Amino acid sequence: MKRTIHLIAAARPNFMKIAPLYHALMKESELEPVIVHTGQHYDLNMSDAFFQDLRLPEPHIHLGAGSGSHAEQTGRVMIAYEKVVMEKRPDMVVVVGDVNSTIACTLAATKVVFDHDQNDAATGLNRPMIAHLEAGLRSFDRTMPEEVNRLATDVLADLLWTPSPDGDENLQHEGVAKEKIVRVGNIMIDSLEMMREAIEAVPVYEKYGVTQGDYAVLTLHRPANVDNPTSLKALCDMIVRLSKQMPIIFPVHPRTRKNLENTGLIDTLEGKPEIRLLEPQNYISFMNLIFNCRLAVTDSGGLQEETSYLGIPCLTLRPNTERPITITQGTNQLCTLDDIDSKIDQVIAGETGKGKSPDLWDGHTADRVVTSIRSVFNI
Ligand code: UD1
Repeated sequence: MKRTIHLIAAARPNFMKIAPLYHALMKESELEPVIVHTGQHYDLNMSDAFFQDLRLPEPHIHLGAGSGSHAEQTGRVMIAYEKVVMEKRPDMVVVVGDVNSTIACTLAATKVVFDHDQNDAATGLNRPMIAHLEAGLRSFDRTMPEEVNRLATDVLADLLWTPSPDGDENLQHEGVAKEKIVRVGNIMIDSLEMMREAIEAVPVYEKYGVTQGDYAVLTLHRPANVDNPTSLKALCDMIVRLSKQMPIIFPVHPRTRKNLENTGLIDTLEGKPEIRLLEPQNYISFMNLIFNCRLAVTDSGGLQEETSYLGIPCLTLRPNTERPITITQGTNQLCTLDDIDSKIDQVIAGETGKGKSPDLWDGHTADRVVTSIRSVFNI
């Protein structure tokens, strides 16, 4: 009997996490991956382009949830996914990361009952087993919606695949049984290594008239940074100051663009030759821009990891991070609008080290996840 594994993909950072696992599962004759796209991200350049780059097929199931407030989005995904679980009866649901769809699908799947008196022989459950990939990360900041999603998902999941030792420790402090925790490493690095040849093939940065190793890449989308007009204004001032030191490539997230346009702040950035405002980039182009930049300035989670792995300095505009290993071992530094200028100066002066890639960030995480899945089902 083939075991069906639902891979839940929702928002841009999820696609890089399911792709290596999908490809690894496709090699297994007893396991059948099924891609479920919740539709949280739906624009061509936020979703479809990533499926193409990462060689993923069209999603097998599309929930079409779209945008909305947190409760609306979470609720719509729950309602749609519960029906899918009842109808398709997957053996396992793999949720990744920390977006609203991660907790929504976890909540929906955990309360389903398949057969009242006939539990699955291998898992002992009468519902799908729920596994969380990228479990255990904590910023300890519950004002972040992602932190709430992480906490709630990890309480409910049956199997917790962690990327680094801090993940294991956090889960154990929260009382999660040791047997449920499996350290598998960082799946994003699998995507990066899987696509390295394509990433390196075309010098995308040349298209924007910048020189290799002599420009900054900027990404910003966290509500705490971009939803408040005062902090958005201060960010724009910082961007203009940085652009006087090196050219900036800034692929603008839809949330950020909307806020820049609504406040009129877009005028402070547009038309300046040293600031290249781009549409969100596909995975291969964006990674090429990162591979060749001098510095990344961001509030993204994934970019803190990718730059650490690549040894590229990263300044993270947040008061905390759920990925502390990128600071203790990698190239990441937290910063505020007050100290970012001096940190940029340090990077320019070459005072920041190359860092060291954490254990198991090696491009083989998907294989370790498959081994864990096989062991759950006694295959
Ligand atoms: C979501 C995740 C965040 C992740 C980010 C990556 C949650 C709580 N947040 O934030 O953790 O880092 O994705 O991008 O799940 N929009 C479009 N086109 C799209 C998608 C969104 O225009 O394809 C617009 C929406 O209409 C909305 C805004 O962008 O106004 C925000 O989208 P949403 O998915 O709600 O949250 P993100 O800020 O993208």
